[in-house]
This record gives sequence, C-alpha cells and structure tokens, in this order.
Amino acid sequence: MPDKTKEESIPTDQLISLLLTLEEDVINEIESSNESATALRLRVFGKDSEFVKLTSNIKTIPKDEKTRCGIVLNQVKKAIENALSKKASRSEGITDNDWIDLTAPGTQPPEGHLHIVTQAIEEITQIFNKLGFTRVRHPEVDWDWYAFESLNMPQNHPARDEFETFFIQSSNIKFSLNKQYERIKNYQMVLTPHTSNGQVREMEKGKLPIRMINIAKCYRPNWDVSHIPMFHQFEGLYIDKNVSIGHLKGVLDYFAKSFFGEKRRTRIRPFHFQFTEPSFEVDITCGICNGTGKLPNGLTCRLCKEGWLELGGAGMVHPNVLRAGNIDASLYNGFAFGWGVERTYMMKSGTQLDDIRLLYGNDIRFLEQF
Ligand code: PHE
Repeated sequence: MPDKTKEESIPTDQLISLLLTLEEDVINEIESSNESATALRLRVFGKDSEFVKLTSNIKTIPKDEKTRCGIVLNQVKKAIENALSKKASRSEGITDNDWIDLTAPGTQPPEGHLHIVTQAIEEITQIFNKLGFTRVRHPEVDWDWYAFESLNMPQNHPARDEFETFFIQSSNIKFSLNKQYERIKNYQMVLTPHTSNGQVREMEKGKLPIRMINIAKCYRPNWDVSHIPMFHQFEGLYIDKNVSIGHLKGVLDYFAKSFFGEKRRTRIRPFHFQFTEPSFEVDITCGICNGTGKLPNGLTCRLCKEGWLELGGAGMVHPNVLRAGNIDASLYNGFAFGWGVERTYMMKSGTQLDDIRLLYGNDIRFLEQF
C-alpha cells in the first residue's frame, strides 16, 4: 500500500510536460478572460492553484533531475507573469472586478490662472471701487466724434497724428437712434486709440456727479518690443462741483500706494493734451531705487535713471469737453487720467519684459511664471 501521507512521485518528464501544458492553458485563459490581471494572478498563483500543486511535486523529483525541472518551472512562471503584465497594461478600462479606493486623494488636474493683464485690471477696478469709482464699458469701435472731435481735437488737428489710428469703413452704418446722429453722421469710425472716448459718452448719460473708471482695449498701429497694436488703458473721470487739482493728486496718490505699495509717491508735471487744461504727466517714484535714482552701491539706477517712472497722462477736463457732453461748464468741472494697463502692471511687478509682445504670445511657458 502506498503511503497516502507521502506525495506520489511523478516522473520528471511527465511533470515537465504537465507544466508546459499548464503554461499554455493559463496563458490562453489570461488572454481571453474578462477578469482583471490582479484577479487572474490570485487565481493562477494562489494557494490552491494548479501551478502551486505542480510546483510541490519538485520535492519528489530525484536530486540529479531537480535542476532541469527547476529551469522549466522558472520559464513557465516567467511566461505566465509576462502574460499577466501585458494584460494589466492593456486593460485601461475598469472592469467590475477592479477595486477602487474612493477615499484615495485624487490626481490634481492642471490648474491655470487668469491672464496677468486680467489680474491687473481686476486689481485696478477694486482700488478705484473703494474710492467710489464704478467700472463702466464704452464701445471699443467708436465714432471719431467720441475718440477725437468731442475731445477738443478737431479734424486735421496735428494732435490727432500722435494717436495714429485704425479707421474702419463705416459709410453704410446708420446711427439714427443716437441723439448725436446729426453731429456725428459725417464722421468716421475708429478702433479707439485711447479710453478717452468714454468721457463724453459717460457725460451723455446725464447723471452727475460722475465717478467712472473705464477699462478697455485700445488700438494703435505700432508693433515693436515696447508696442502692441492692441493694448489696454484705464481711464478715470470725476465730474462734480468745485473739483480741484488737489482731488486729482489725492486720487493718484491713493492709487499709487494701493497698487504699488505704501512707500510710493507720485508727482505731476506740466504737459499738454487737447482735452485737459491744465494737463499733466504723472510720475511715480521708482521701486528699485526708492525715488533716489541711485542704487546702494552708488551706481545710477538702470530702470529709472533719475528716481521717477512715467505712469501716463492726466488733467482737469477742458470746458469744451464738458460742453460736448452737455454739461454746464460754469457749474461743473473735473479731472481725468488715462494710463496703460500693461505698462502699469510691468512697473508694479518689476517685470522687465524685453518684449511686451510676450504678453499676448499665448506661450504657456511664459504665462505660467506669473
Ligand atoms: N488719452 C490720453 C492718452 O492716451 C491720456 C489721458 C487721459 C490724458 C485723460 C489726460 C486725461 O495718452
């Protein structure tokens, strides 16, 4: 009677052939099965698997044949492993047998941010909101009445040359609903070269006092490292009784401190614009040298050279402009200012772009840095 507690010995060749058959069967099964690689692995190599049973027979193989058998066993195991990992990489879809850990933290999707110019516009809007200025929208394609003529810049006035302008064909455009029709019907349409077209449009709403901040796209046909044909300006307009240059200076200082930092100061220098009288250029102290023009090592500041950076134009609204907007210039007056958003942003961040066109190149590698 054979001893039941002892495993029966199988002849080596038979064991090898059983292993090879198993390999073939298992690989076929792996390839045709719908089960996941993980589930299949458990079954193929599990405690009660055929593979484990056959493997245990190795013990009974005569010593001198063990090596031959072991080599085959390893090859079979490798082949099955290969089939399993192929299966795992092939199965992208999740089957019912796959286990998902719902509590595992998700993969963070790539997160973008608002364009830096949009961020600047939002910040500027908030600062002026605090002073009671409301952001308004006016056309970015407008009659040259609003862009020039109503701003005390008659046709053929040389000042209009400074605003080299995109004119658009508008001979067929009827504007009969607008009460200004009679006055503007002979004029052309332009892509607004500045946000000042919003001044008379705002006055025409007929509500006083006016505290507007008009932020919009502007267009001028320039294209080089410091100019882009489309850029942004923000235009402030304050119209009330007894407005003084002191009010203007107060608003400028408040903006400079809020946007650039507590230590920054502004100054106004005489300048000339057709639509303001008097007119100013507004400067702000340089953030690199703190308005001294000199660096701690005694060298001249390379950014500003003399302590001040130029922000943009401002002035007290010209009475002719008030009149164009149907405002009684003997009762009301006010101030206006208009600056470039891109320029102002670059001055704040200290970002020295050697090419302003980068802002609109849509290159993620550039935009991601902000
Ligand atoms: N519109 C002027 C420009 O584009 C700036 C400005 C606005 C100046 C308002 C004075 C008052 O240069």
